[in-house]
Amino acid sequence: MKSEKETLADLTRGDFPLFSSDQGSTQSLIYLDHAATSQKPHQVISSLQNYYSYYNSNVHRGAHQLSARATEAFEHARQITASFIGASSSREVVFTRNASEGINLVARSWGDSQLGEGDEILLTLMEHHSNLVPWQMLSKRTGCKLVHVGITSNGELDLDDFRAKLNERTRLVSLVHISNTLGCCNPIFEVASLASRHGALVLLDACQSLAHQPVDVKSLGIDFLVGSSHKLCGPTGIGFLWAHEELLKSMPPFLGGGEMIQDVYLDQSSWADLPHKFEAGTPAIGEAIGMGAALNYLKVIGLENIQAWEKIITEYLFESISRIQGLIVYGPSPKVHQNRGPLMTFSVEGLHANDLSAILDTSGICIRSGHHCCQPLHRHLGVTATARASMSFTTTIEELETFTGELTSSIDFLRSHS
Ligand SMILES: Cc1ncc(COP(=O)(O)O)c(C=O)c1O
Repeated sequence: MKSEKETLADLTRGDFPLFSSDQGSTQSLIYLDHAATSQKPHQVISSLQNYYSYYNSNVHRGAHQLSARATEAFEHARQITASFIGASSSREVVFTRNASEGINLVARSWGDSQLGEGDEILLTLMEHHSNLVPWQMLSKRTGCKLVHVGITSNGELDLDDFRAKLNERTRLVSLVHISNTLGCCNPIFEVASLASRHGALVLLDACQSLAHQPVDVKSLGIDFLVGSSHKLCGPTGIGFLWAHEELLKSMPPFLGGGEMIQDVYLDQSSWADLPHKFEAGTPAIGEAIGMGAALNYLKVIGLENIQAWEKIITEYLFESISRIQGLIVYGPSPKVHQNRGPLMTFSVEGLHANDLSAILDTSGICIRSGHHCCQPLHRHLGVTATARASMSFTTTIEELETFTGELTSSIDFLRSHS
């Protein structure tokens, strides 16, 4: 099924060294693990290479020209990040190592100083471990209570359960935008409106949405947002936390050290202005610059264009997979669920997801198997492991055709040998 018109995948694949046709042995690789980490275009790789080759220097410290250049590029990356999510100012963007660190920052700083016994945090059953474990640790430290919202039989957030569990003791609702397992896109505006009526803050884990649809913090009505660069075509080792300036101002520092201080005495210190108050030590400079290049790259392609192409390929995948006998798909169908993430999590009766993944790998097809850092969700679904194929704007219909063909023969092979 090759259309005459060039698709977004056709237009962009050449930017990615891994997908370009002169890669010899990797030529036939089909990468369907974008939800775990995205591939990097040469625009990002060369921004990292430029920094390390021509202006490697520490930021905010030196008076020399290299340091000034590095500082300018580093702070420019912060502005790009702020504008990518519609923040009012780059002071609202704190660079972290990844999304997990952003959530830990909020738990340690805001949570430790604000919460105690009698307070509640509302989470959901579909959260990634990154959005469960920091709150469990906070609950042990402060005595606050964790309450979990369920999911419907269709694999969507149970809004009735959310309404029932939200109350005047709820201080924070922390939830995922697009589930990395179910693929559902949660109704954040509605959740945030309800939460604010009860005076609760909302933290959005946008790891799986930022690369797939436009996200605007102001129109969503949220209070915190975390993201990871490596899921956005950017380098590993860098991510960010966004929060309203007043909220960040009211929060104590997370880690102590250089960069985050104004004045240091032997027995006390004062803190630097936002956002540096939360960035102790030498940051991941090249990686932040690389993340800026990645966000610019996604912006030039256009998040609306990405969303439109990924809708087509997600519907195509769901349609072609529906012909395979004994396959169980988790999460709502893209036909009925708006803004669904471009991924499909599934299991096959009688077969282990790891066996499926290993056998597909022999045909050069990379999918994920396991619990995808969502053990409580998997327990709720009654499975220990599932397989997941996750796509990006670079995914072609031809790749999905090959994948479904190979999946069908892998299932037949494993069944005939079990
Ligand atoms: C929904 C979701 N939240 C949080 C994370 C954690 O991201 P990181 O490991 O980059 O901190 C992931 C990564 O898989 C994710 O998919």
